Amino acid sequence: MKLLLELLTLCLLSVAARAAECHGKPSPDAKPNLNPIYTDPPRFVKSVKNGMLFLTGDGEDVIPIVHVWGSPYEMGYAHGQLMKEKAQELVHDVWEYMKLQVEQGINGTIDIFPGWFLSDIANIGLEAALDLETDVTKPYTGSYFYEELKGLADGSGAPYKTIERIHMIGELTKGACSMFGANESAVPAGGGLLQLRALDWNVDGPFKNFPQVTVYHPNDTKYGHAFANIGFTGWIGSITGFSSQLLAISEIGVSFPDETFGHESRFGVPFTYILRDILQFDKTLEDAVTRLSTAHRTCNLILGVGDAKATQFRGVEYSAATADFFTWDNLRPEADWHPRIKDIVYWGMDWLCPGYNEVLAAQLNKYHGNLTAEITIQEIVPIVQTGDLHIAVYDLTKGLVYISYAKGESETGPLYAYDRTFIEVKTADLFNVTPPGLV
Ligand SMILES: *[C@@H]1O[C@H](CO)[C@@H](O)[C@H](O)[C@H]1NC(C)=O
Ligand SMILES: *[C@@H]1O[C@H](CO)[C@@H](O)[C@H](O)[C@H]1NC(C)=O
Ligand SMILES: *[C@@H]1O[C@H](CO)[C@@H](O)[C@H](O)[C@H]1NC(C)=O
Ligand SMILES: *[C@@H]1O[C@H](CO)[C@@H](O)[C@H](O)[C@H]1NC(C)=O
Repeated sequence: MKLLLELLTLCLLSVAARAAECHGKPSPDAKPNLNPIYTDPPRFVKSVKNGMLFLTGDGEDVIPIVHVWGSPYEMGYAHGQLMKEKAQELVHDVWEYMKLQVEQGINGTIDIFPGWFLSDIANIGLEAALDLETDVTKPYTGSYFYEELKGLADGSGAPYKTIERIHMIGELTKGACSMFGANESAVPAGGGLLQLRALDWNVDGPFKNFPQVTVYHPNDTKYGHAFANIGFTGWIGSITGFSSQLLAISEIGVSFPDETFGHESRFGVPFTYILRDILQFDKTLEDAVTRLSTAHRTCNLILGVGDAKATQFRGVEYSAATADFFTWDNLRPEADWHPRIKDIVYWGMDWLCPGYNEVLAAQLNKYHGNLTAEITIQEIVPIVQTGDLHIAVYDLTKGLVYISYAKGESETGPLYAYDRTFIEVKTADLFNVTPPGLV
């Protein structure tokens, strides 16, 4: 009965118990990132039926690019086959990490989980609590996700149930993160649309050891078009990525909302799946706006969707109750620490977060009219100190994306992605790849 009541109760964040706004801010001594950008094309490593592996970057900043073709199951299978050891390791390490975080959540060392999740664990245990979360989101989730997870398990040998469980992590913990979309007067002539996705999340966790760009080439239009998921080996949700339709996504977890967000809910589509659906299925910004407006939404987020074909960007205030869309001239929250800047939609780290927004606004104003991917990498993310785990700067108008990940466990150099070497990826090198011969 207790469980049923919790299931029927819409989740409320523990925000009331916290301060009303975030208190972090970047260090005033932050330095620009002067590392040269890596620009060589990806190198072919090997192929299997329905899959090809390339590497890009050199030295310690190397990112696997995994191409997969076919049906959802086949794409999952090829991913698992090509990245077998790494996928097994990720699944194992993330599971262990989740268990540790949950222990810390229960004993009060960290405060990142929603209350309903912790009471589910107290009542039925972690495995069952995650399976329950899978069950309540399944009705809102495309069946192709589960077909692909099955393929991934079969191809990699990692246990299916654990793969399914770790895919709920996005719904249960919150990253901070920053974003912007800039066009017209904010960028040089011909600049089109420039978009940032900076992910601030769990640099102490295992994710930094598993950078991967997965390029999907579905064999049937009912599974959408080609897109690139910028994330982690063995993990198929989307937090970062762009598509062959030139759509790209940004996302911020909101821990400090205002009252305009309304309530959250656990009954809906996990946000890492709706973001992926935008990349996989939507052809225009309008498609994405319709998808987000009509979805069964869950937790408080700020999302960003750019369409470089139309040089348009929308920021989205997103919760179970609300889907509000922003251009630069109706941007919220309205505050002296979050000034409206012509032709730029932006947020730093959270909704109510003066310390980061102030510095982000100052840097955007300083380079207004001159905003490029290079300036973003050199002078914006490292000065705002945002994007600790991973960053993508989308310059899809020019067919380019710049990617960086935090220092992996066995690597040296700076810890945070915003201080490391960025890798330039040409979109044509991803979407114009010939599939391996049919076996
Ligand atoms: C909470 O749990 C973690 C992980 O098991 C442990 O390292 C830590 O010492 C615990 N803290 C308290 C206050 O019990
Ligand atoms: C896609 O692949 C699946 C599995 O091999 C096959 O059944 C299906 O017919 C293919 N679809 C197309 C349009 O080729
Ligand atoms: C620039 O983006 C804004 C939305 O932020 C949009 O209203 C405007 O039409 C865009 N400009 C061009 C030239 O596409
Ligand atoms: C834009 O960048 C160029 C080259 O770095 C510089 O010469 C120019 O002064 C900058 N303009 C603005 C408005 O910042």
